[in-house]
Parts: sequence; structure tokens; C-alpha cells
Amino acid sequence: MIIILDFGSQYTQLIARRIREHNVYCEIHPFNIPLSDIKAFNPKGIILSGGPSSVLGETSPSLDPEIFQWEIPILGICYGLQLMSKLLNGKVENSNHSEYGRTEIEIKTNNRFFNEIPSTTPLTVWMSHGDRVVEIPKGFEVLAASTNSPFAAVADTKRNLYGIQFHPEVTHTDKGIQILKNFVFDICESSPDWDMESFKEAKIKELAEQVGNEKVLCALSGGVDSTVTAVLLHKAIGDNLTCIFVDNGLLRKDEAKKVVALFEKHYQVNLVHIDASQTFWDKLKGISDPEQKRKIIGNEFIAIFEKEAKKLKGINYLAQGTLYPDVIESVSFKGPSAVIKSHHNVGGLPEDMKMSLVEPLRELFKDEVRELGLALGLDEELVFRHPFPGPGLGIRILGEVSQEKIKVLQEADQIVMEEIKAAGYYRQVWQSFAVLLPIRSVGVMGDARTYDWTIAIRCVSSKDAMTADWVQLPYDLLGKISNRIINEVQKINRVVYDITSKPPGTIEWE
Ligand code: XMP
Repeated sequence: MIIILDFGSQYTQLIARRIREHNVYCEIHPFNIPLSDIKAFNPKGIILSGGPSSVLGETSPSLDPEIFQWEIPILGICYGLQLMSKLLNGKVENSNHSEYGRTEIEIKTNNRFFNEIPSTTPLTVWMSHGDRVVEIPKGFEVLAASTNSPFAAVADTKRNLYGIQFHPEVTHTDKGIQILKNFVFDICESSPDWDMESFKEAKIKELAEQVGNEKVLCALSGGVDSTVTAVLLHKAIGDNLTCIFVDNGLLRKDEAKKVVALFEKHYQVNLVHIDASQTFWDKLKGISDPEQKRKIIGNEFIAIFEKEAKKLKGINYLAQGTLYPDVIESVSFKGPSAVIKSHHNVGGLPEDMKMSLVEPLRELFKDEVRELGLALGLDEELVFRHPFPGPGLGIRILGEVSQEKIKVLQEADQIVMEEIKAAGYYRQVWQSFAVLLPIRSVGVMGDARTYDWTIAIRCVSSKDAMTADWVQLPYDLLGKISNRIINEVQKINRVVYDITSKPPGTIEWE
């Protein structure tokens, strides 16, 4: 395995991801983990991440320099390079010429660190630093330089110590992945034999050790993240896991039944299933403002969760399906999802519950969670399901919510999902769903006049939900969806397709 010592860079997780993508196991640990623990991992290589501090500060994060005597290959990235230089008696200064963003570097020496990378043309790399190395430690040589950083890449090949001033893990850096591969494979001599299967096994073991014989509570939503969290924990601690699933009456058609069946029948998990539909419907009566609806749904969820959790005695841990994008604050994954996610993740738990958090997915990106779900044997249907907002159909029914409207929307939404799947679009798009517009328009069906509601179809492509575009679905597919909805769903006599991108629109209508 490769160990990354984290000095606080927003990119630390990305480094781990890039390495794992190449089938080498990699773990992130805080910079101040005891050296004996690092040694116990028996790593093939160590990466010192970047970080926001200055190595010149008196209290800045540091390391025991003994690590450099181990003869384990070490790569210092940005802050990591500066720290290594400082600790090995090189010199670091606050630079008058900070480098932020794209810079070109020239490769100066033929070294396996730059294997497979032509040295004839400059490399565009991504830098982000205020301090810079002005004198490299004894034994080091220059591998690459930029105008402002004469020591853009340096190495002491005898001790296998490498340092770079730029970030190889970001996509803006040319050949960045090749550089990481060169370090991991050519210098650390790792083998590409790690996969999600082994991650799963390692996580299960780690969770069992972390939690021991304590009891864990997990809030299930039926989405991929909480499902994978729960299944993983169940494998690790069995009956010491209890899940709470609050059915808010605003879920997709048959969703509650499916969640309960999966966990009660398939996994035999201790499941507290609260059908709170009526409570949510009652609270939403007469409310048509979107924000008010969101607040009511979020608060009610927390109130119910709290009440149920308090009934369970002796629980010391709360499990959450927090993913990497939720963790890094500096990458702004903002918008309504962030706020409501905290509802969903029970961010507002009362102080007196005093539970420690277990977040087994915090190093993973969404696609890795899906891969883990498959490794756990979860159905593809569940693993690849589209994101679904916490407030559910409550924000896909414009204006006031009623049971009748929920039923209508569930039927229409089911048809959209079936047809999108049948046409092979489901996995390609970010989300596809129906929205109910409870305004009435005139139509004619079987020679009779109708005066009914409208369904809008929304189908968007996106990478992270921050921006999205409407998908150019084929006309015959749209036609089929429209026909089916009008023929099969009572109360609907008109179907429209939403062709708004985000921005200026949002994905959800409310
Ligand atoms: P918008 O509508 O802001 O949605 O473009 C962006 C993404 O976030 C999802 N979304 C939510 N997810 N709770 C969630 O867990 C919410 O309240 C919420 N609102 C929106 C939305 O489905 C889309 O994928």
C-alpha cells in the first residue's frame, strides 16, 4: 500500500483516488500519526501531501525526520516538498513570486520519475504555492524547473526521496497521472493488484475494529450511499447495527416496500421502519411555498429520527453515508443538496445523544461507492439508481402537496423511469423524472373534453449536479413516454419536456 500523510490539501483525496484507479491500495492518514503506526502498515511508498500552511510558521505541521532514513520511497508534493527540504537542511523562503495556476516546467534530467514523458517540450503543470525552495538539501538534484521554481521537481535518488512543487493529481497537469504512476510503479515497485473487492474486505475489518462491540445506528434513505453504508456495517458488526428508515410518504412508487424488503428479508438487519407518511402529509397541508415545504420535511425528519433513536438504548455510534465531495469544504459542493443532505445525514442530532460518527465512505467518490455496492453484491438497479432529493416528491409537486397528487406523480414517474431504462438512457444520464404541474388545461379524449393536470419530464446530464444540461432524448422516446402517461395516468392530459439547463434553471423544480 501507499500511505499519504495529509497536511491539509484540498487535493489529498484526489491523489488517493488516482492511485486507487490504478489498482494500488492507498490510505490517507493525518500528518501526525505516530511513525510506528506508519511502519506497521509496511507501505511501499509514502506521499506527503500539500497543505495550506507555510513551513516557515512556528506551529506549522511537521514530521519526524527519521522517516527519511527508512529507505521507503517518499514523494513530497508542494508543502510536502517544502517540508522535506526544510527538515533535511535545505532552505525555504516566502516567495515574492507566488505561482497559482498553470505554469510550464522543463524536464532537466533523464530520471525514471519522468518515464514515458517526452522531455523535449515543456509540461504544463498546476501550481499553487506562496513559499518556495531556494536551496535543496544535500544529495538532491534538479529534475525539472519552471521560471519561478528552479526546483519544480527534485530527487535524492540514493535515498529514493522525490519532491515536486506542482500538483500531479489535478487534471490541469499534463502527464500528472503518468508521474504518479511512475512514482507508484517504477519507484515504489507496487503491483496493480488492488480492487474494490479488497477495499471492501479491508473496510469491513477496519469497521469491526473501530466499532468493536458497540452498537451503531444508521439512517437509511433507500439511496445508494446509505444502503452501501448499512450493508458494509452489517457485514462488519451484524446485529450490533440498527437502521432507522423513515418513510415520509413522498418516495417513489413502491420505494418504501423495496427498502424494507431489501433490509429485512435479504440482510436480516435490525430495521426500525417508521411509516410517517400521514404526519408529513398533515404537516404539508395548505403549504405551497417551496422553501417552507423543504423546511417542514427536513425538520419533521429530524424530529422523528431523534424520537426513535432515543428509544434505542446503548447506542454509541451514528453511521453516515458521507462521501468525499461532502467532506472537502474547499471544493464547493453547495446548493440545496448540501443543506438538505445534512438533514438526511442527521446533521442536526441533539447534543445529548453524544454519538461518535462512523463514515465508511468518506474517502470515496460516487462512482466508487457504486463499485463498492456491486462488490457487496447489491442489485445493479439499486446501485445505479439516480439521485433522489431528501424532500422527495414533495418538491416535484408544484405548490400544495396532496395524497392524490403524490399518487399521480408516482405513476407518471414510474413510466418515465421504465421507458428511459428500456431505451438504454438510464445509466447515461444524471437524473430523469417527472414533475407534476397541478395547473389545468383543456384536452380531448375519446371525444370528451378533459380539463386536467400537466406532467413535465426532466432528464439531465451532469457530472456533479453543480451544472447540468437537458438531454436531447429522441422524439420517439419522448412520444412514447407522453402517450403512456396520458393513457395510463388518470388526471393527466398533457405532457411537456423541460429544455432548461442549469444554470439558469435548477435540476429540481422547487
Ligand atoms: P438542484 O435542484 O439544486 O439539485 O439543481 C442538484 C442536485 O441535488 C439534488 N437535490 C437534493 N438532494 N436533498 C438532497 O439530498 C435535497 O433537498 C435536494 N434538493 C436537490 C437534486 O436531485 C440534484 O441531483
